[in-house]
This record gives sequence, C-alpha cells and structure tokens, in this order.
Amino acid sequence: MLDCASSFFTYETTKSVVVKRRSLGIINRIVQALIIIYFVGYVFLYEKAYQDRDTGIESAVMTKVKGFGFYDNYLMDVADYVIPPQGASVFCIITRMVITHNQTHGLCHETNGKFNCSTDEDCERQLSSNLASGKITGKCVTKVQRCEIEGWCPAEDDSKRTPPMKEAENFTIFIKNSIRFPHFNVTRGNIGSMMENKTTCLYNPVSNPSCPIFRVGDVLEYAGANFSSIASRGGEIGINIGWVCNLDLGEKKCLPKYSFTQLDSAFKNITFSKGFNFRFAKYFMSEDGREYRTLHKAFAIRFDILVSGNAGKFYIVPTLINIVAACTSVGLATIFCDIILLNFLKGSDQYKAKKFEEVSGLASQSESHELHRYSVHSHVLKEEVKNSNDSGAYSIGDSAGQSTSA
Ligand SMILES: *[C@@H]1O[C@H](CO)[C@@H](O)[C@H](O)[C@H]1NC(C)=O
Repeated sequence: MLDCASSFFTYETTKSVVVKRRSLGIINRIVQALIIIYFVGYVFLYEKAYQDRDTGIESAVMTKVKGFGFYDNYLMDVADYVIPPQGASVFCIITRMVITHNQTHGLCHETNGKFNCSTDEDCERQLSSNLASGKITGKCVTKVQRCEIEGWCPAEDDSKRTPPMKEAENFTIFIKNSIRFPHFNVTRGNIGSMMENKTTCLYNPVSNPSCPIFRVGDVLEYAGANFSSIASRGGEIGINIGWVCNLDLGEKKCLPKYSFTQLDSAFKNITFSKGFNFRFAKYFMSEDGREYRTLHKAFAIRFDILVSGNAGKFYIVPTLINIVAACTSVGLATIFCDIILLNFLKGSDQYKAKKFEEVSGLASQSESHELHRYSVHSHVLKEEVKNSNDSGAYSIGDSAGQSTSA
C-alpha cells in the first residue's frame, strides 16, 4: 500500500537528453514535417479551420413549370398537370392518368380481380377490406363474378395501360431560390447577373451551370432515371442546391451548385408498391341537383428541391485554437522518437538510464556522492525529507535509499 501511494504521489518533470544520432534526428524532422504539412495543408487550407462556420442556412424556394403536352388527345397545360399549383419546393408533374368519368353514389360491382366471386360467401369474407373502391356489401354480382360495393360508381378500372405523356420530357422547371446565412447576415439568390440581360437559358452542368431553368428530361438523366419507366409508374427526383461559400473571397463568389438524385432508388428492386401515384377528384353538379365526379388516378414525377449549405469567414478564435493545436501536435514527434529510442535502438538501456533519473526529496543536493553519504546515514536523510515539505517535493519512506543503491 505504501509503495503504491509513494509511486502515485511522485512528480515527473522532463529533462532534455540530447541524442547525437543522425538516423533518429532525421526521423524526428520527418515526423515533424508530416505533422506540419497535415495542419497547414489539410486542417488550414482544405478544411479551413481558421474560419467561423454558419451551417444554419435559411432558404425559400419558388418553382414554375412550363410546357404543353397531349394526353389521350387532350391538351394539358400547367394547371392540368402540376400538383400542387402553388409552386412550392415539392411538386408533382403528372405524366399518366387513369380517369373514371361520371361517378355517382350508388351500388355497383368491383372491377379488380382481387374481388372475384362465385357466391355471396366469397364476398362476405372480404367485408372489412380497405382495398376495394368502396364498401363491400357482401353480395356477389354473379353476371360479372365480382363483389358488389357501395360507393362512387362505376368503380375505377386501373388495369388499362395508357401511354404516358411523352412531351413531359421537354417541360422546363424554373427554380427561384433565395438563401440567407443569418450568422453573417449574408443574402444570396440563384439568379445571377448573367440572367439579367437574357430572357431564357437552359441548365447544363458544363456549359451553363448557373442557369436556374432545367429540362425535365435532362434532370432525369442526371439523376440516373429512365424517362419512360418513371413517366408511366411515377417516381421521386431530388434537385439539391448546395451553397458552400467562402465569404473571405467576397459574397459575389458565393454561388449555388446543383446536383440530382433519384430519391426513391432505395425501392428500385422492390415489386410491392412501385413508383408513385395518388388520386384526386373533380366534383360537379348536374342540372337536377345530383352530385357527380371525375376520378383521376395520377402517376407523377415528384420533384423535391432540397437546399443545403454552409458559409465560412475568417475568425480569430478558431484560428488561435487551431494554431495552438498544431504547435502542440508537433511535440508528438518527440513521443514517437522516444518510443524508437527507448525500445528499438541499440543501447536503449543506456538511453533509458540517461532519460529517467530518480531524484529523491532533495533536489538541490542531488550529486551522487552526497546521496551516497545520505544513504549511509539514512536517519538523517529521512529527517531532511520531512523538513522539505514547503518546497513541494518530498517522498515518504526510504525510497531515497533504494534509488541510490539501485
Ligand atoms: C422535345 O423537343 C425536341 C427539340 O425541340 C424535339 O425534337 C422532340 O420531339 C421533343 N420531344 C417530344 C417528346 O415531344
């Protein structure tokens, strides 16, 4: 116990040992150089550790789609195929529809093959199904061998495969994005000065990367999606606007970068619930006061405009912290060289003996012959040790005697 306590309550201080070995000296300098290169090249220049960063970007997105298409010999304009119409950052372009006209409330038969029946019992089993077009009554309409429903009739038949609206490929999406970095109070927009004297342009990652007008076919291609499959089944595409700004170069250099992803690609190989579709209805009133509706099952490409970004600007506090960290880290070379010196070099025992020297209580009189004298008169030494409390360096027991005899 006493030994343990004595080793715990000892103080270690460094002592400089100059080792005149060229190989170790070279290793030391190389390690120091690597650490300096890491800090200067990666931490300061690449990661810009001298900057204060604002990651809380505020953003507003407005969108506008343009183009005309034909669906089922019916001309579709923006109000027909864009949902919701407000021009928000999430919107759908409908490319295919299953339309059921003149639905009224009543009783009729289901069209889906899932509700096949030959007797009423087959339908009674389906009474609580949510998948039918209306509430199952439990009767079988034997003429068509389908269960009867109560609801909007006639029931939708979505087994028909109509071709998608091909012209959607040529539609254009205009994106207006305004952002702010609240920490630096910097406001930027994605419509630069190059748009001011032009009325139109088309985004191209190489020749026109700052144009905010995108062709739908191009966006799908950049996202790696296939137009004909996504147009007939529906899908979800992300347009990312990245604002990574170095405000030390001036606000004018703070420009957006666009990238494109297919957000639903995680479900590419899943056969259950493929694509993206939704239903909506338009309601009418007939002259005799009966309500009827047109039901649309819409397959659409959903676009999500995602805005992310951060801005950095020189600031003294992170600069100082990182300079101090860099200076401290240069000292790691010493630890590395010590490991080599004390373990892997020839004569490492000798170096060890030089490096670690134990000094008992009396730091002022540490010459060996004096210590030797004290070890002989160990009683005297103990007394002197106890008297040196005020200097902060003392040891208990006769460890002084041990160290000299070792
Ligand atoms: C899209 O536009 C190009 C060029 O204007 C035209 O050649 C092409 O036929 C159009 N595509 C569709 C599906 O209309």
